[in-house]
Formats: sequence, C-alpha cells, structure tokens
Amino acid sequence: MKRRSVLLGVTGSIAAYKAAELARELSRHGVEVRVMMTPAATRFVSPLTFEALLASPVVTDMFDSGPAGPIPHVSLAADADVVLIAPATADCIARIVHGLADDIISCTAMASECPLIVAPAMHENMYRSAATQANIAVLQERGAVVVGPDSGDLASGGRGAGRMSPVETIIGVTMKTLGRHSDLAGRTIIVTAGGTQEFIDPVRCITNRSSGKMGYAIAEASRDRGASVVLVTAPASLTPPSGIEVVRITSAQEMFEATQTAVQHAQALIMAAAVADYRPTGLSPHKIKKQGQEMLTIQLAPTIDILGSIQGSFVKVGFAAESTELECNAEAKLTAKNLDLIVANDITATDAGFGSESNRVIIIDRQGTFDRTPLLSKREVADRILDRVVQLLS
Ligand SMILES: Cc1cc2nc3c(=O)[nH]c(=O)nc-3n(C[C@H](O)[C@H](O)[C@H](O)COP(=O)(O)O)c2cc1C
Repeated sequence: MKRRSVLLGVTGSIAAYKAAELARELSRHGVEVRVMMTPAATRFVSPLTFEALLASPVVTDMFDSGPAGPIPHVSLAADADVVLIAPATADCIARIVHGLADDIISCTAMASECPLIVAPAMHENMYRSAATQANIAVLQERGAVVVGPDSGDLASGGRGAGRMSPVETIIGVTMKTLGRHSDLAGRTIIVTAGGTQEFIDPVRCITNRSSGKMGYAIAEASRDRGASVVLVTAPASLTPPSGIEVVRITSAQEMFEATQTAVQHAQALIMAAAVADYRPTGLSPHKIKKQGQEMLTIQLAPTIDILGSIQGSFVKVGFAAESTELECNAEAKLTAKNLDLIVANDITATDAGFGSESNRVIIIDRQGTFDRTPLLSKREVADRILDRVVQLLS
C-alpha cells in the first residue's frame, strides 16, 4: 500500500523550530513527509535539520531542478495527499489568497488539488489585523482547514492569540484529513479505555492496572482510518489522540451512561476498558481513619454489566483479559454479552497486556474462528481489530 504523503511547508516564523518536531512526529505516524521551505524560514531553521530527521532533501528554491525534478512545484503538488503549511506566516497566507506564486510554498499550494491545512503563527496584532483576518476567512471559504492559532505566551513577549497550535493538534487534523477516503470514513466509532475507579472515600478507590494504551491505540487508528471517534476514558496517564471527542468518566456507572449516550449514532462500539466488576456499597464522605490493628470490612456490590446492557444495531467488540482458560472464558463471554467479536488477551504474559506497549491477542468471532496475532505493537493490534470491524460493517 502506498504510504500517505504530507507535503510540509515551513515559513519564516519563530515557530519554524516546532516544524522539525511536527515533521518527525508525522513520520512516526507512518506518513511520508516531504519538506519545502521559504527563504525566510531557512533564516530560522536550517533545511539540514529536516533533511537529517527525514533522510529526504528539502526544497527551498522553485527554480532549482533538484531531486523534486525540473518543475518542483508541479511534481511536489502531484505527489502530495495533503499540503500542510506549519507555521504559516501572515505573508504566506496573503500570497496564497491573492495568487502570488513567487515562492515554492505558495506556488505549490496553488498547483495542488489535495486538501490544504494551514497552521498560522504570528504576533497577536498581525493575527488580529484586518488583512490577516480577511485572508484567513477567504482561505476557509475556499476549503482550506485552518488550525489555530492558540492563545498563550508569545515569542515576541506578552500573551495573546497567535501561537502555532500544538504539534499533536496539527497531527490530529492532518491524520484525519489523510483518512478521509479510508475504510472507516463516514463511520462513528465509540471506544472505551482505561480502568474505572470505584471510590471508597474521598481519596481511595478500587481500580485495576489497565493503562488505557490499547483503547487509546484503537481510538487513534480509527481516527487515522477516517472514523469520527468518541473515546470514553477512565482516568489514564496518557494524552488522548487529538482530532477525536473525549469523554472522561471515573466509575463503571459513569462509563455505562456515557457509552450508552455516545453509541446512539455509532456503527461500532469497541470496549477496551477494564471495568470494575464490584463497587463499594457506600461512599464514606470523609477519609476513613485507621483504627489500630482492627480489620476493616468493605462491602462490595456488583457494578452494572455494560457490555451486556448496551444493545443495538452496531458492531460490538469486547475484550477478555483472562489469567486462566483464556479461550474458553473469552468464547463464553462473546456469547453471554451478544458480541460480534471478542479480543482475548492473557494478562499473565509479561510482554503483553496491561501497561505494556505490545499485545498478543486472539480475535474470536461468532462463527468460532480464532485469529491469533503474534506479538505486535498495540497500534498494530488496533488495526487488526479494525480490519475485522470493517469486514463486519460491509
Ligand atoms: C525574528 C522574526 C520573527 C518573525 N516571526 C513571524 C511570525 O511568527 N509570523 C509571521 O507571520 N511573520 C513573522 N516574521 C515576519 C516574516 O518572517 C516575514 O513576513 C517574511 O516575509 C515571511 O516570509 P515567508 O512567508 O516567505 O516565509 C518574523 C520576522 C522576524 C525578523
């Protein structure tokens, strides 16, 4: 399969240094990144930085018949799936809007037919100026996606609007745009993740070792394949992928309510969360004090059966984290909860499952087919699960 390609245009803003991180992160997401820079941008960051990071030549001069061929703006435009200008100066935005094709970036942006994403970065007054506001409005009217800018500390001093959006936000928008024709485009997928917390008193809770990594990887993979994603997440120390809707919950009951609401208009529900099976029957309003060496008994009641309770005409995928009789228990859960697929993982393995970066799973369907994966990254496992969801949706 051809790798998706982003043509990154870097212009003469102080934020140009952030483009190096952006290029590297896009490349980590499996995207082929080509870079073009304006002469002003090369005053801030050397093309060598990008060349070294990406092992690919940077185009700075549209009259230079280098590796991009004799007419670089045409060949670069033709090869790109997305043109991303980040940071985008007021000057560059103005040139594109007014059709001034006198540098490699504005010329290529005009020569391309693929989506254009622009991440402005400039001093607040430049951003608020009537010219820039009008130019950005025109860009949007013409179909360009404008990301940010954000508000915060500005390099030129003071605070205000004009900071380039965070790299992660720009990546989210770019990956979503790249996925617009992928196999989950137009679908809505609900993903649950993390370990729920059932509170005993204001500071203590019953929870589990789930890190949320598997669910977050499924959410990210769904986004990259074009889906609109709602991630219903229990507390986790991870940053959710950008470009998706995130609903933060704590307890099993909250997860049930949020998931039931979210799934109304969805085509698939993938429940990777580790939901508590029991909760304390009462929540102490105050921190429980230790009473010498006396035993403390906490009565537990079963939590709601989320997988079993949420039914509807969507593809339903559950997870079974088991320490014994993995296959048998997973198959029984598939039937009991009326699932389309169950993803079974052995939580006693040291290189897979809870907290680890990798996973080795068995995907079981209603026909009793067992699809055993080797040890894969959680992102790769996510894509295997989504391959099966796509089959079921079609
Ligand atoms: C130190 C310095 C920082 C600058 N930072 C920005 C900026 O963040 N955003 C912007 O629009 N222009 C900024 N400029 C002005 C642009 O570099 C200038 O408008 C230039 O013509 C942009 O060229 P380009 O769009 O071809 O890259 C800065 C200029 C200097 C000297």
